[in-house]
Amino acid sequence: MATTIAPAAEGTIEVNDTRTGQTYTLPINDGAIRANDLKKIKTDDADDPGLLSYDPAFLNTASCRSAITFIDGDKGILRYRGYPIEQLAEKSTFLEVAWLLRHGELPNQSEYDSFVHDITYHTYVHENMRKFLEGFRYDAHPMAMLNSAVAGLASFYPSSRNIMDPVERNISMIRLLAKVPTIAAYCYRHLKGLPFVYPDNDLSYVDNFLSMVARMTEPKYQADPIFSKALEVLFILHADHEQNCSTSAVRAVGSSHVDPFSAMSAGIAALFGPLHGGANEQVLRMVEEIGHVKNVPKFIEEVKGGKGKLMGFGHRVYKSYDPRAKIVKALADDVFKVVGVDKDLEIALELERIALSDDYFKSRKLYPNVDFYTGLIYRSMAFPTDFFTVLFAIARTAGWLAQWEEMLLDKEQKIARPRQIYTGPAERPYTPQIEHGHKVAGAKHKKDALRS
Ligand code: CMC
Repeated sequence: MATTIAPAAEGTIEVNDTRTGQTYTLPINDGAIRANDLKKIKTDDADDPGLLSYDPAFLNTASCRSAITFIDGDKGILRYRGYPIEQLAEKSTFLEVAWLLRHGELPNQSEYDSFVHDITYHTYVHENMRKFLEGFRYDAHPMAMLNSAVAGLASFYPSSRNIMDPVERNISMIRLLAKVPTIAAYCYRHLKGLPFVYPDNDLSYVDNFLSMVARMTEPKYQADPIFSKALEVLFILHADHEQNCSTSAVRAVGSSHVDPFSAMSAGIAALFGPLHGGANEQVLRMVEEIGHVKNVPKFIEEVKGGKGKLMGFGHRVYKSYDPRAKIVKALADDVFKVVGVDKDLEIALELERIALSDDYFKSRKLYPNVDFYTGLIYRSMAFPTDFFTVLFAIARTAGWLAQWEEMLLDKEQKIARPRQIYTGPAERPYTPQIEHGHKVAGAKHKKDALRS
């Protein structure tokens, strides 16, 4: 049985408002004060709504209580439901981890078997989904395709909107875990101009995905066991990461009580960004641009001079080596033994070596994050650069779902609705600046249409 983390010492904090001379006592629970308690700190102005806490980008605001993932950014610790990421990566399967994230305990044999069966049973997608994906341009980014397709799944399962019905919620969660790899593989085949490959339900979760990606004329696809193992581990490492940008997006959108497919597509959208999941793609582009190990010092100097960032470095929470990056680096060695050393590995190693000994990076506590080496592994496995973040999204679906359900069942949660500090003009009368009814010349429209 899991032991819970001891809550930080409880107590109170005295706040003295120098505007009024009043002192307020605010309770501290679990190392936090409630922002709502600040409301009672007011001036004498009858219109004063009370003190707000201002925290752009949520640098120091806990938005929920969560029992799923624990991170100690200073010590480089990551645990899912108390289990160290290193042990899960070594010993478990991705589906075991998906179960663990949602249910809080590792599955026993019969729970695991029926979970695997349910996931396998739901791997197929409606044929219209295939046609929908075929409609994208040949060069569509696979994350844009995945995002739209997952949002589109809501239209196939209208009853998924009954999110408070545990049966509906369960089947939606199974469907998402089962169908996201199928859709992802279809996106890959579209990118390559290859025919879609249907799921092979005799295979494991990861092997089936690799089959849908790589199978050609062979009747049965057999993935290289090193690739299967590498992908299984990478999926485990990416499965959850507490309240990051995409998970917060899923929670915020889900808090409106929309269906889970729409909420997951919000997560995929957030993950697409280069500061988040899109970083693995950017790392590879950066390394390719550097081109040769001799150009690394110059590149580092440019970064220090404010010209761009060292992609794959730095993290909002980790202020030491990202524990996932350590595992990925070791994994890369295994993969390179099969396919040969990646041509840009030398550049990546030199970037890491210089950055880790440079004051700019040391003083800002910038260390390699999970995305620094994943791109090199994915490229060695012949995944195109555009596709890297899709692989991340398949894995993170497990975490998003667990966090989404935790949010729904949390009695303290309400629709997410931050406050703001208004900085715009005070009230002013409307004075037209344009002539209403004035027609814009058609010729301009034509020119714009040609450009689009
Ligand atoms: N290269 C160079 N300088 C950096 C970097 C970097 N990668 N990251 C942060 N800094 C500097 C930043 O310029 C700032 O310097 P100063 O104090 O002089 O203004 C200082 O370090 C603090 O940075 P910050 O922007 O306040 O940190 P943040 O917590 O807001 O940003 C981050 C975190 C991950 C967005 C950022 O480190 C970054 O952009 N890294 C590169 C992109 C990346 O690898 N993202 C993947 C993150 S891990 C996986 C995931 O989330 O999906």
